[in-house]
Amino acid sequence: MKRSALIASIACALLFVLALPAATLAAKQGADNITIFGGSRGKVPFPHAHHQARLKDCNICHSVFPQEVDAMRKMKEKGTLKSKQVMNLQCIKCHKADKKAGKPHGPVTCSTCHVR
Ligand code: HEC
Ligand code: HEC
Ligand code: HEC
Repeated sequence: MKRSALIASIACALLFVLALPAATLAAKQGADNITIFGGSRGKVPFPHAHHQARLKDCNICHSVFPQEVDAMRKMKEKGTLKSKQVMNLQCIKCHKADKKAGKPHGPVTCSTCHVR
């Protein structure tokens, strides 16, 4: 193998090794902003990264539904998650508790979460 070709292949291998974990790490975090399926009431824009940074613990939400695109919709279709369950027992419950405690809180009314 020519010296230049060797250097090039070493450089390629290095790039691959360095880029791969970075890419998988980024993918596992999920998108920064997610549009949640909200049925007839309209979709729900959700600042995912904002919640991750603020709440730290992924399982606050992901103990109920997996870390997948459209997870809740798929579960509802299979009948393993009740419609509005996450909305009432996670999203609104937490936002209301923070509001009551006088802390910065997320939206608690229909139209501040759901958009058409
Ligand atoms: C406040 C709730 C909440 C927290 C906390 C949270 N997530 Fe999510 N996550 C969601 C929602 C909602 C979805 C979208 C599911 C859906 O559309 O049905 C999602 C989707 C995902 C997805 C798939 C979507 C995509 O873009 O690939 C991944 C991966 C993910 N989350 C990773 C994480 C990780 C890692 C953490 C912790 C660092 C975390 N999440 C914390 C609510 C949360
Ligand atoms: C904090 C944000 C938030 C607020 C406030 C909120 N929702 Fe939701 N809503 C969601 C999310 C997220 C979902 C999807 C997950 C689920 O079904 O639990 C949803 C789901 C729904 C669904 C079911 C969609 C389906 O087909 O499964 C309906 C209907 C609905 N919301 C109506 C309302 C009404 C009416 C109000 C006001 C009284 C309201 N929502 C307030 C976030 C919110
Ligand atoms: C355990 C608590 C907790 C849960 C669960 C939670 N949130 Fe929040 N959310 C917060 C807090 C705290 C804020 C306010 C952050 C701030 O002001 O910096 C917030 C803010 C928001 C905002 C406004 C962000 C902005 O930029 O103004 C939206 C929209 C939102 N949440 C949607 C949701 C939806 C949809 C769910 C359910 C899938 C959810 N949240 C679940 C704690 C929570």
